[in-house]
Amino acid sequence: MCGIVGYVGTRGSVDVLLGGLKRLEYRGYDSAGVAVIDADGHLGTRKHAGKLGILTDDLAAAPLADGHTGIGHTRWATHGGPTDENAHPHLGDDGKLALIHNGIIENFAELKGELLASGHTFHSETDTEVAALLVGDAFRATGDLTAAMLQVVNRLEGAFTLLAVHADQPGVVVGARRNSPLVIGLGEGENFLGSDVAAFVEYTHRAMEIGQDQLVTIRPDSVEVVDFGGAPVAPPTFEVDWDASAAEKGGWSSFMAKEISEEPEAVAKTILGRVTDGLVDLPEVTALGPEVLRSIDRVLIIACGTAAYAGMVGKYAIEQWARIPVDVELAHEFRYREPVLSPNTLVVSISQSGETMDTLMAVKYARERGARTLSICNTQGATIPRESDAVVYTHAGPEVAVASTKAFVAQITATYLLGLQLGQVRGALTDDEARGLVAELQAVPEKLATVLGVGDRIKELAHWMADTRSVLFLGRHVGYPVALEGALKLKELAYIHAEGFAAGELKHGPIALIEPGQVVFVLVPSPRDPRSLHSKVVSNIQEIRARGARVIAIAEEGDVAVLPHADEVIRIPLASPFFEPLLAVVPLHYFGMELASAKGLDVDQPRNLAKSVTVE
Ligand code: F6R
Repeated sequence: MCGIVGYVGTRGSVDVLLGGLKRLEYRGYDSAGVAVIDADGHLGTRKHAGKLGILTDDLAAAPLADGHTGIGHTRWATHGGPTDENAHPHLGDDGKLALIHNGIIENFAELKGELLASGHTFHSETDTEVAALLVGDAFRATGDLTAAMLQVVNRLEGAFTLLAVHADQPGVVVGARRNSPLVIGLGEGENFLGSDVAAFVEYTHRAMEIGQDQLVTIRPDSVEVVDFGGAPVAPPTFEVDWDASAAEKGGWSSFMAKEISEEPEAVAKTILGRVTDGLVDLPEVTALGPEVLRSIDRVLIIACGTAAYAGMVGKYAIEQWARIPVDVELAHEFRYREPVLSPNTLVVSISQSGETMDTLMAVKYARERGARTLSICNTQGATIPRESDAVVYTHAGPEVAVASTKAFVAQITATYLLGLQLGQVRGALTDDEARGLVAELQAVPEKLATVLGVGDRIKELAHWMADTRSVLFLGRHVGYPVALEGALKLKELAYIHAEGFAAGELKHGPIALIEPGQVVFVLVPSPRDPRSLHSKVVSNIQEIRARGARVIAIAEEGDVAVLPHADEVIRIPLASPFFEPLLAVVPLHYFGMELASAKGLDVDQPRNLAKSVTVE
């Protein structure tokens, strides 16, 4: 939530900042702004409510005097609505200091009272302006931006990443972070700060993690990091493993269209290098030690939204393959009760961004109470993996569209690798069983590539249904979380009422929703499944059709038994039950996207949302 970029070097800063903001806009798009110190040492700012394009057009029409030092911000509003006044940067020290912020300053009311009493006036309703004024005052007293920022961060409570520049110190950007993301981009004769590496990957692949409660000062030729006590620290560096082009739309109509097309690759890359001699080999997990892995008596998966649905799919597989009880909890529900945890509980967090505040806080909570923590994460240098005992990265590549798609299949894949690894180490799977399952997982990307072909058919369906006001989704077993995922995509993208149900639950209430014309997507399990779930789901279809529902079945190739009962059948390739969700979700991802497009909505940036939810 909120994207932040900072630059010092030799390039024109406005271009660097706008380029960085363009790649960070998925983090929030209520307003955008920049501040630069020009060649004469004057601070200039420009900011506008609305999407980044408004700011970019304005700067093209009336350029800002440029220089080589600046900061930029794209906002997801928390304190104060999305107006020009509330857009960042905010100013201090009589307009000589500019500051941007991601997060929430919880004690801002108290600090604001203090500042009002000492004669300051406020120009916005934000909590951020408090920090700008405080750092401005501290600069007057110290004459140094790093010292000023250090004084102030120790007075702030809550979550924040702050970046500031001051006209009297051109060539310097100071950043600070507590519970919000910030990464350093290391260049030659230039340095960068960003909410994530997308902010600067066009210019450098070398990056440095900045830890919790640390402050960084970048100049063209130096990067200095200290903790909030002022003691120097030497954070680890890492290489960004993807190119700027991976975060570009290319020829696609939307990032979402591009990212759905990358689902096969997301699965393939997440498996790549993690299979040895036909068995799963996850050194990130085995490094915990065989004793520890054998002593785990419970797995608790914590995540939010789509990542939680991936966790629900993972639950079925881990329990089956490793024979360990698995629970899945929404991260925000988890830590506000007193969950029972022990050193033998493995808490697995799942997060695409690695910054979701609810998930981060849940991980910290679990760790403080002695549980072992493992994160499944898609973003290098993110906070959640750093706060965990171990990390299994998904290699889906940067996900820019706000609605998660390719990360979902990569997350499921990672939970499967984890389940297989645990099953192998604990002897719950024989090598032959494990090899068979691994081979099936490895076959998924090719099958997924064929499912992408359903896109055109789904587009037709979506156009036909553009006025639909409610859609239901039914699934069973691993199909149930996929039904939830299909419904979430419709809510967030097409803004229509959608619900996912476990098919078996239908008769316990939801069937009352069925009236003539109600559209219901049904995930039909394979008829080859020995547990006869297929016939149970077909019975469910008959029950709802008898009441007028219009059924769109997602069923495997060759399942003719479903034909008489469905109005439409979308085919997926044959796979055994655990691998069906990876295939069946693709038509649902397409459907959310196409229905939103048919309604003329912005597929990549749905209203009220931001990709990375870094506030609670
Ligand atoms: C839905 C979606 C969200 C995220 C959720 C968790 O399409 O994208 O529900 O899945 O906010 O985000 P991460 O995975 O970044 O923790």
